[in-house]
Amino acid sequence: MQTREKIQELLQPLIDPESGKSLIDLQLIRDIMVKEDRISLSIVCLEEDDTSRMELEQKVRDLLTEGGLENIHIRLRNATDYERSILRTGSSADKPEPEQGTALKGHAAGLEDHELLDENSGVKFIAVASGKGGVGKSTVTVNLAVALARKGKKVGLIDADIYGFSIPDMMGIEEGPVVEEGTIIPVERFGVKVMSMGFFIRENSPVIWRGPMLGKMLRQFFSDVGWGELDYMLLDLPPGTGDVALDVHQMLPHSKEIIVTTPHATAAFVAARAGSMALQTDHEILGVIENMAYYECSSCGKRDYVFGRGGGARLAETLHTELLAQVPLGAPDNHISEPDFSPSVYKADTQVAQLFAEVADKLIAKYE
Ligand SMILES: Nc1ncnc2c1ncn2[C@@H]1O[C@H](COP(=O)(O)OP(=O)(O)OP(=O)(O)O)[C@@H](O)[C@H]1O
Ligand SMILES: [Mg+2]
Repeated sequence: MQTREKIQELLQPLIDPESGKSLIDLQLIRDIMVKEDRISLSIVCLEEDDTSRMELEQKVRDLLTEGGLENIHIRLRNATDYERSILRTGSSADKPEPEQGTALKGHAAGLEDHELLDENSGVKFIAVASGKGGVGKSTVTVNLAVALARKGKKVGLIDADIYGFSIPDMMGIEEGPVVEEGTIIPVERFGVKVMSMGFFIRENSPVIWRGPMLGKMLRQFFSDVGWGELDYMLLDLPPGTGDVALDVHQMLPHSKEIIVTTPHATAAFVAARAGSMALQTDHEILGVIENMAYYECSSCGKRDYVFGRGGGARLAETLHTELLAQVPLGAPDNHISEPDFSPSVYKADTQVAQLFAEVADKLIAKYE
């Protein structure tokens, strides 16, 4: 039988040389999923050089194969600063050895005393909205979340686009969340904790619930999910000004908003409606992000304004807010064979990632 427990048992001999503890006990082997005959798991790497990462991956693979398991899918990611800090406190000598599983649960239950939705939880909610679909709202949400995490912030991301969920796919998440004693543990990717309807829908089938059910689902994303400590929670809203967007506004009276548009005049005009909705429900608008702003020729550097020009600036003016960034056209240069593959996350050293890092700085400055 291929169970989580069996996998944990097989990997128990892997030891972190620094602390002398098992990687399993240190919660560095995560997201273990067994689906039909397929096994997937993530390794959180403390050593960042390729050789150590590959060696570790090979050891995991060998232990599982020797244990008679096959069809193994392994993801590697580097530990975030936050995880390193947790590990340091977790491995202090005077603390009792955590029982298997309890470290994760304790970490996840960090919000038990103060509800996530409570204004005093200290979590800064940012909802990302757009007037029209397809303007890159999800792309912006994902990259902003990753940018904040790269700055050492503890970030959660809710894919509130319940019909049109796309975040798991865009971030290259293949596994689903695990449930630890009644709490759903969000899937972590690039240091961002993610929750999406997509985790609960089989084989890309359509979501056919009606309004009230959607609101309930969304509420459960707050109440039944062990988010642990968070600095920021980003929400990818469905496009437009429909029921779910309104639900989110009502559920999160203290959330602030970012509006995404393309530079085209019509897109900006429609986006203004999403902006007005935020303002009418007393939500501060943090700024506008203009996506697909231009195409820059890679050889001559000339910019072509393929979708028109000025929409973002005009929208920001209409909404009395700031134009936070103009993101050029260009898909991330990621390849499926890479260990950290994700279709929509720009690598840290790219121009677009740099733009999102600047937006993250602006947001941090606004809040802190
Ligand atoms: N700056 C960009 N350059 C190139 N492609 C982009 C850019 N931004 C987004 N895209 C692509 O455009 C498409 C739509 O983007 P995305 O899914 O982020 O938009 P959305 O507003 O969330 O759409 P929906 O309304 O369907 O939720 C995707 O295929 C995405 O990869
Ligand atoms: Mg989307």
